[in-house]
Amino acid sequence: MKIAVIGKGGREQALVETLAASPCQPEIYSFPGSDAICRTATRIEADGFDGLMQWMVDNKVDLCVAGEESYLVKEDGLANRCAALGIPCWGPRKESAQLEASKEFAKDFLLRHHIPTGMATAVASYDEAIAAINGQYPTVLKFDGLAAGKGVAVCMDAAAAEEFLNEVFIQKRFGEGRLLVEEFLTGPEISIFGAICDDKYLILCPARDYKRLMDGDEGPNTGGMGAVASRQLASPELIKTIEETIVAPTVAGLQQDGLPYRGFLYFGLMLTPNGPKVIEYNCRFGDPECEAVMPLLKGDLATFCLNGAKGVFTPELISFDEGWSVCCILASKGYPASSHSGDVISGLDACGARVFHCGTKQTEAGWVTAGGRVLAIVAQGATLDEARTRAHAEAAKVDFDGSQRRSDIAYKNM
Ligand code: AMP
Ligand code: GLY
Repeated sequence: MKIAVIGKGGREQALVETLAASPCQPEIYSFPGSDAICRTATRIEADGFDGLMQWMVDNKVDLCVAGEESYLVKEDGLANRCAALGIPCWGPRKESAQLEASKEFAKDFLLRHHIPTGMATAVASYDEAIAAINGQYPTVLKFDGLAAGKGVAVCMDAAAAEEFLNEVFIQKRFGEGRLLVEEFLTGPEISIFGAICDDKYLILCPARDYKRLMDGDEGPNTGGMGAVASRQLASPELIKTIEETIVAPTVAGLQQDGLPYRGFLYFGLMLTPNGPKVIEYNCRFGDPECEAVMPLLKGDLATFCLNGAKGVFTPELISFDEGWSVCCILASKGYPASSHSGDVISGLDACGARVFHCGTKQTEAGWVTAGGRVLAIVAQGATLDEARTRAHAEAAKVDFDGSQRRSDIAYKNM
């Protein structure tokens, strides 16, 4: 089986390695890939989106797996193009990926299907936003488009809201787009992953990510500074509630709305005093949750995804360990406002944990930083304490100039 995995970060490396370890022994290809991924996968030497599609046809790829979201909604959509060429794709079509690409589309979907979520108003200008906030703080402002996890601001007061509105509507930091003004919800967050195959689904191992830059959930939002995953993160009762009130109605809603879906679907939830509510959908695995979850997966992910992409649901092919997995991210100097490239990374040889590369390059000087999030250091254990102690100890062995890392991953909010 030939599999092409689309993406280049730590999530894609975790997917590539887990797919490669499948008993069916697939050949893995990667686009655009990274130096780290291409130790396991063969790089697809193709020019742009058109080149990638042609390469998959010429090389008779059996399965295309979408890692990152951007290709799902680019031009006419990765899955749509695959469908037109007869290539099975694990990842949804462009129409369905609007659940992630547009916060307003997702909010309308949630409300239409009576799935618990925060109330919200869509606005198109600075003044409309101020009117919708109506002096109620805290408030949550969400840019209505892809913004790499940086388009959301939880504003405690008017000054914070005005600053973000200025970025969105005056500086146009994320480009043109509308904004959702959303009700502020409280409670612990949890990431639930579904593998969706038309009207069927499997709920995978839950995880929790840490979005703020600094310890104690201080500092700006990032793409994620770490994650913890375990089936024990949520009780069977909680998973049942989430399944009945959120996952099943979402899958039924996609069917009703004529939105075909085969792929991972990520439910970002807040466990509020009034029950679990949807904060966001993502049409792919979470990053860095994927780096924490994949090492717990047992079975044949490659065949599971191939079957799923063809509309055949085979949940018996995969399962998850009972233990815990903790992922610590090392980010580069300046992240998340900027990133720093070319800093030499030390200590990788001494690190006894699994290392997934989010943004690195291999040079004559060794591995160097090449992005905001640089490395994901991941360790497992039978207990939470074992996993987090190991993950932090191993992450502490790796360093580069200006590296940033949280020391409370899997300690806070547990
Ligand atoms: P999102 O990109 O929609 O996941 O939002 C990023 C983060 O902002 C979430 O993980 C939450 O911590 C926070 N957030 C989003 N929506 C809300 C909300 N309605 N109430 C409180 N916090 C929120
Ligand atoms: N961990 C958050 C995300 O993947 O968007």
